[in-house]
Amino acid sequence: MKRIALFASGSGSNAEKIADYFAGPRQADNAEVAISLVLTNNPKAGVIDRARRGFGTGLVHTPVLVFDRPTFYKTNQIVELLQNQGIDLIVLAGFMWLIPADLVRAFPNRIVNIHPALLPNYGGKGMYGHFVHEAVVAAGETESGITIHFVNEHYDEGAVIYQASCSIALTDTPEDVARKVQLLEHEHYPRVVGEVIQAL
Ligand code: GRF
Repeated sequence: MKRIALFASGSGSNAEKIADYFAGPRQADNAEVAISLVLTNNPKAGVIDRARRGFGTGLVHTPVLVFDRPTFYKTNQIVELLQNQGIDLIVLAGFMWLIPADLVRAFPNRIVNIHPALLPNYGGKGMYGHFVHEAVVAAGETESGITIHFVNEHYDEGAVIYQASCSIALTDTPEDVARKVQLLEHEHYPRVVGEVIQAL
């Protein structure tokens, strides 16, 4: 059994796609994958309700931990929890806080993130959510996409695992680009997480 911890700060649509991907029939595969824990810094995050209702399938009833900034940055509690639960892979799905160095060191090449642009462009501090798509449209880009990458101590700088792109029409608004990018996220993130965890 391989165990995933999902970190999310917002709606959690990617977390749900990933949980649903590993629910049901896939649990019967030889290499089982379980979503052991959902962690969030945001007590109002949509991901909490999604997890409590068992995500899309109703099959994955996952404990949720809400933590605050001092706990994350000034104690070892989260690292110890993840280690005690035997977590193999940490998946960031719209998680907005920088991962502290001790967590990166405890899970080397075992933390993945998805960024809604083609890194190394449009990444780094402050480049998240709608800011990314507004910058892409303002620059007149003809394509954008997703980057799935390992996480290190710096925002959006770890080794790239997978990228997929979409074209941008001249008339596309940032909201249009966001929709195209989200389709790519939902299509590819679960499968790529599966490939990463099977390779561990
Ligand atoms: C996604 O666009 C992801 O790339 C970014 O945050 C967004 C999360 O959306 N890092 P959701 O919470 O999974 O719906």
